[in-house]
Order: sequence, then C-alpha cells, then structure tokens
Amino acid sequence: MEKIRRTRIADVLKSESFGTKVNVRGWVRTRRGSKQVNFIALNDGSTINNLQIVVDIDNFDEEVLKLVTTGACISVNGTLVESVGQKQKVEMHADEIEVLGAADPATYPLQKKGHTMEFLREIAHLRPRTNTFGAVFRIRHNMAIAIHKFFHDRGFYYFHTPIVTGSDCEGAGQMFQVTTMNLYDLKKDENGSIIYDNDFFGKQASLTVSGQLEGELAATALGAIYTFGPTFRAENSNTPRHLAEFWMIEPEVAFNEIEDNMDLAEEFIKYCVKWALDNCRDDVQFLNDMFDKELITRLEGVLRDDFVRLPYTDGIKILEEAVAKGHKFEYPVYWGVDLASEHERFLVEEHFKRPVILTDYPKEIKAFYMKQNEDGKTVRAMDVLFPKIGEIIGGSERESDYDKLLSRIKELDIPMKDMWWYLDTRRFGSCPHSGFGLGFERLLLFVTGMTNIRDVIPFPRTPKNAEF
Ligand code: 4AD
Ligand code: MG
Repeated sequence: MEKIRRTRIADVLKSESFGTKVNVRGWVRTRRGSKQVNFIALNDGSTINNLQIVVDIDNFDEEVLKLVTTGACISVNGTLVESVGQKQKVEMHADEIEVLGAADPATYPLQKKGHTMEFLREIAHLRPRTNTFGAVFRIRHNMAIAIHKFFHDRGFYYFHTPIVTGSDCEGAGQMFQVTTMNLYDLKKDENGSIIYDNDFFGKQASLTVSGQLEGELAATALGAIYTFGPTFRAENSNTPRHLAEFWMIEPEVAFNEIEDNMDLAEEFIKYCVKWALDNCRDDVQFLNDMFDKELITRLEGVLRDDFVRLPYTDGIKILEEAVAKGHKFEYPVYWGVDLASEHERFLVEEHFKRPVILTDYPKEIKAFYMKQNEDGKTVRAMDVLFPKIGEIIGGSERESDYDKLLSRIKELDIPMKDMWWYLDTRRFGSCPHSGFGLGFERLLLFVTGMTNIRDVIPFPRTPKNAEF
C-alpha cells in the first residue's frame, strides 16, 4: 500500500481539498451496501463524527473486504470527494484498504448498538469505542484543559500535593491504608495496637482524601494555588454520585474571604461549562440528542443565572416549610442535619430553579479547619449545589487564628503529632485564606448529562469493584 501520512478524521471532515489523496486509520463502526458498492463508517476517536468511505467492490480483494467488519481496525488510502445530501460535506472514495486488526464478528462485544450502561461498565476496556464514551472522554479531556487554563490565566500555580499522606484532611476516617507490612503477621504492642515502626514509611500512611492541607501551606507562600489530582475515599457509599477514587480540583487563595471564595467558585464553574459549550459542541449535542434533551438548556441556564447565596439556616427553613406543606423527603429535615442530595436538589430544582451556594453550616457537620463564626454554632463553609447533582463544590474560609484552630483540633481529638506542620501556618505569618474542592466527576456528570458517576471516569473504583 502506498505510504501516505495519516490525517485525523476530524481534520478530513473540515477539509475542502476535494480531489486530494489522504490516508485515514480507524475502527469500523458499520459497513453496509450492495454487491457493487459498500459504505464504511470509520471513526478514529478524533471526533464523534464518522467518515463515510465509499468502496467500489470490483476494485478490491474479496478476502480483504471480508475482514472489514464492525470493530476492525483499517487503514485506507483514498480521494476526498464532496458528498451530496449527507450530514458531512466530505466523503472518501477508497483506493486501497489494509486491515490492521480484524475483529471477529462472532465474539466482538460491541456488535450491535443499544447496549445498556451496566453492560458497558462490564466491558470498560472497550467502551471508549462507543459514541457515548468517546464523547464523554473527549469532554473529560477538554474540561481538564479548561481548568488549567482558567487558573493559569489568573496567576494561580498548579501545586502537587502528596498522594500518600499521614493526615486525614476531612477527619472522617475514610482513608485507604498504604502498607508493605505482612498482613498475616502484624506486630502489636501490649494494648493490641499495630506497631508501624518497621512499615515502609515508619508510620501509619494512607491515600489522601484531599490535598487541601498541603494546598494551604502553598497558598500562604505562593499566594494562589490549585491542585488537580486523584483523591481516595473508603466510604461505603454505593450511589450514582460517589467514587472511591475520584479527581478533585482544589484552589486555595491567600487573603480571600468567604465572599471572594464564592465569587471564584461561581466564575470558575461557569467558565468550565462555557468551555464545554464552546469547545465540545458536537459531543455535547450528541449527548443532548441521545440521552438528555434538556442538557444544553441546563448548561445555558447555569451560565445565565446568578447563583443564589443563602445561609444554611435559611435553607433549612425553606425545607421545613416544604415539609409542612406536604412535601415528602426520604430523610428528615431539622437544623443540624447534614443535607441529603434530595434536600439540596429541592432547593436548586424546585425552590430557586438555579444553582445555590449554601453557607454558614453547623460546625458539627463540617471539618475542623473551617473559620468559626461569632455565633459559636456555625462555620464559614460554602457548598455549591447544582441541578441534577446536589453538592458539586465544598469549601470554606479557613480558621486563621492559631488558638481557635488549636482548640477545635483538641475538641475533635485529632492527633497533634499529625498536625504540627499545619498549625505552623497559623504560627508564622498567618492570614485570612479560603479555598474549595470541585469534584471533577461531579462536574462531568453535569456537563455530559450522564446520570451515573461510573460513566464519566474511564475505570471507576467503587465498593467491591476494582476491575481493569
Ligand atoms: O466536600 P469535600 O469532602 O471537601 C473537601 O475535600 C475539601 N478539602 C475541599 C476544599 O475545601 N479544598 O469534597 C469536595 C468535593 C465535593 O463537593 C464533591 O464534588 C467531590 O469533592 N466529592 C466526591 N466526588 C466523587 N466521589 C466522592 N466520594 C466524593 N467525595 C467528594
Ligand atoms: Mg462536602
């Protein structure tokens, strides 16, 4: 076969160089046609759109064409022609076809369309080859780029916080332990506690639940930073919104108070949504047409509306009034409760009909590092609540006062030996600062319209599942 440099199908479809010879390579989506002429729909992942390849049967070896089946990988040299009456304005007339890798029709699992999402999760190694997952993973990439660009353009530094850590940032005790000890032969002291002296790190170590604490160290030196990395939670939550391994973006900014933090969160998330509409239009349109007819309307709605900013206490009042009027929630509503997703979504979808930033939560349901309010009951927390998702961002202004922070750490019995370095930020040159965490997959749920978080990460890790 003549050697021609490969062109991506995304570029071929934009081309108007009719008559030129190009080479494309990709995976066959379908092949149909008659005894004289066949049409191959070829996809190479560069776009949701397939290139139509017209094959004049007489010019090709029958044995080669037999292998051109759904899922096979082929290389085609051919001529670009203007297509009439097609969705695409260009198609290709094949001159030469080489089969790079056949896909046996009897065993290739993505034979017909219309597989359930559950089935596709079982073949997560092949699902990127479907239209849906191609679209989702292209959007996932684009969102990562948007996030870096947003912060870079505003003078934030991308700061790498450790994945293996000795501290439990959220204090919720949901950490995966990291050890090289022989689990069949653990050394214990006289109280039955495990001795970690001979473990790899010489102490108990875990996978991080958040890069925030180290992010705060960086913010109080570099001014404004963000982290963007994997985080791990050993919470046994089998819901469509929880993963055991997820990616989180955590900006942290010196001198920002809670209002600045809310402004940043709102600007940031709108920027990401707009990026998806502007840069992933074909993929978003596909998901809108195939899965969720309201998707684009919802994305545009978020861009248009100012987010509601509301204290938790007022949010509870609204929910209590709804209950009094007969609205049924699965979980009870009272001041002090950690809101369930149904409560968050009621405020967003039914009551305000736009995103809500809920602030000033009871301190008992929030982490130790949040700035304490004068009332002694609440902390300067902020959760951003989104339609269909519930909580998409969690953040706060941080307690910058050494004594108040120390007393909270003691109240909560957090081991001091793990916290000395964190407290040093408050001992030396402390300043007001704030930050938040955006769950990357929650953002993707919103932007793609997917309804299960397992379908916006290539290889989901959830309780009892770590395949691939
Ligand atoms: O509210 P969270 O637990 O906050 C923190 O971790 C803070 N340290 C963030 C900060 O202030 N820098 O988590 C932040 C976000 C949530 O709003 C949610 O979007 C996402 O992370 N998240 C999860 N996403 C998927 N699966 C899980 N199990 C998640 N837990 C939290
Ligand atoms: Mg939270």
